[in-house]
Amino acid sequence: MNLKGRSFLTLKDFTPEEIEYLVELAASYKRKKKQGVPVDKLRGKNVALIFEKTSTRTRCSFEVAARDLGMGVTYLDPKSSQIGKKESIADTARVLGSMFEGIEYRGFEQAIVEELSTYAGVPVWNGLTNEYHPTQMLADLLTIKEVFGDFKGRKLAYFGDARYNMGNSLMIMCAKMGMHFAAGAPKEYFPSEELVEQCMSYAKESGATITLTEDAMEAAKDADVLYTDVWVSMGEPQEVWDERIKVLSPYKVTKALMDNAKKDAIFLHCLPAFHDHKTEIGKEIGEKYGLSELEVTDEVFESAASKVFQEAENRMHTIKAVMAATLLGEDAG
Ligand code: CP
Ligand code: NVA
Repeated sequence: MNLKGRSFLTLKDFTPEEIEYLVELAASYKRKKKQGVPVDKLRGKNVALIFEKTSTRTRCSFEVAARDLGMGVTYLDPKSSQIGKKESIADTARVLGSMFEGIEYRGFEQAIVEELSTYAGVPVWNGLTNEYHPTQMLADLLTIKEVFGDFKGRKLAYFGDARYNMGNSLMIMCAKMGMHFAAGAPKEYFPSEELVEQCMSYAKESGATITLTEDAMEAAKDADVLYTDVWVSMGEPQEVWDERIKVLSPYKVTKALMDNAKKDAIFLHCLPAFHDHKTEIGKEIGEKYGLSELEVTDEVFESAASKVFQEAENRMHTIKAVMAATLLGEDAG
């Protein structure tokens, strides 16, 4: 498998075999990390990390993974670069592409990361856009594989805003990898018809199925993985909380929902999560609407079925695989 020179912008651009290869490569990097085996084949190289939105996991994963691979890292925060305000994406891409071997971008429209990739001349990695979160998918696949030993034929049910980055990406992931995807959400929060159609064509190849339902219990039925995300994403206005609480509350992941899934079902969440009042926003919104938790109950989040911290750790190993595969090609292993 040789992915040298490729950008990683959405799973749509990758075959199931390529995706599986990246997950396996990540598993081997994880083993090496635990054994203390050095993997610094990219000594002397450098990567730029552009973050137009905040991050804990994605930033730390790129930084640690790049250092483990022997690379230098430059972090551009949401305020301190010229990007978009004084300098176009195409110009920025050509400048950064002349200094760095690869560029990570987290920000707004997918079109921005696509344009960056068109002009950079080096691999560009999508660290989250409004539409997609592809590096998260690799971590989720690795986690599912670690827990169950496989992912093909498994059912993943996603609850909440299914038309944004997480819902979209999970549907693509399941459709490509032969997993059964169910979205439990109000109709207006279903993924776009165009994306569903595209995923149906992947599903035909892989044996996956796609179910969109307003009935949360139906979505959870016999699922192996229950998954949710925040109800209001980064960059969205505060005003949308009212509507989200009203329409998404029936899709909160509760013990009753978990009990409707398979007996050994797990809970995943890309994080950060509002499962208590121990965050500024969780406390403010929770108190305002009289809710002790938002998208997932603390009971589920803290249960043995919750694999969210294993999933978070896997962000680093999978991001390492993406950088290594696209910079080293066949030498990544
Ligand atoms: N899951 C995820 O992308 O987390 P961060 O926003 O902390 O990077
Ligand atoms: N949907 C969330 C995902 C965070 C990892 C957001 O875009 O803020």
